Amino acid sequence: MSVEPLEIYLEEQDLGRGLREDVRTGLTAAPKWLPPKWFYDARGSELFEEITRLPEYYPTRAERSVLTERAGEIAELTGAKTLIELGSGSSEKTRLLLDAFTHHGGLGTFVPLDVSVSALRQSTEQIAADYPGLRVRGIVGDFTRHLDRLPAGGRRLVIFLGGTIGNLLPAERAGFLAAMRAALEPGDWLLLGTDLVKDPAVIVPAYDDAAGVTAEFNRNVLRVVNRELGADFDPEAFTHVALWDPEREWVEMRLRAERPQRVRVLDLEVAFAAGEELRTEVSAKFRPERIAAELATAGFTAEEFWTDADGLFGVTLARAD
Ligand code: AVJ
Repeated sequence: MSVEPLEIYLEEQDLGRGLREDVRTGLTAAPKWLPPKWFYDARGSELFEEITRLPEYYPTRAERSVLTERAGEIAELTGAKTLIELGSGSSEKTRLLLDAFTHHGGLGTFVPLDVSVSALRQSTEQIAADYPGLRVRGIVGDFTRHLDRLPAGGRRLVIFLGGTIGNLLPAERAGFLAAMRAALEPGDWLLLGTDLVKDPAVIVPAYDDAAGVTAEFNRNVLRVVNRELGADFDPEAFTHVALWDPEREWVEMRLRAERPQRVRVLDLEVAFAAGEELRTEVSAKFRPERIAAELATAGFTAEEFWTDADGLFGVTLARAD
């Protein structure tokens, strides 16, 4: 096994600065909002893992079934020498691909990129131990900012799974795909997981589960802001809201202030009216044509599009033009 030292492009202080900027911008805006990336401290990551096991939350299972079925083809079609994973998180789905590449031969390096040093330390060591002969190079970075730091050379496959691209707003998504393409050479590959447009009666419960895990996950962002910035949010004073926007074809999570309140954070005093909502996440759902079109605009050709048996979730394999 071989684990290289982590390459660090994002320090604790950058994260702190980013959070302060986002809180200042989002909590002084009308309507108020916070970006979803701040859910994922240790507790938030655990809650998300719990969400992936809920009966209502289909995306993880659906994507896993696609990858289980297609991992061999992905290894064969791409013939990748380097596998790069953005926002690696839990490595379970990655292992399906690593197993297929091990069987197929030729993969030399695995590069997980994540904002969390601790998550990367753990995952790089475990992967290196389980895949002897694989070089593991963890990168501490933000996939919206550090794509230019990806290792060059050899046929590369970048994987961006889970539907996380849906957290980006349309303009951010276009910027991300363009930056992704700029970081790659013609013939490199992108494997993209996207949740699909479907009956909102299936989507909304996935973001508003009966056990209340998603509600806790949602409120966790307030706990992160309290801890990191010394704010005094009362998370229990906010109710979890999930709603489907039929025009924009995305689900939104919000936190609704049940009674009027004032929160001190940074040098701000932020007032919430009774019933006022703070948007904490957008999770866009896609139609297959739109995925291919957006990829084409960014300079990729969608070569394969696979879904699970129920057509819930899409996985696209695209090649850089
Ligand atoms: C990790 C961004 C793919 O949008 O479905 C789960 C996060 N939010 N439940 C998603 C999430 C609420 C998830 N992603």
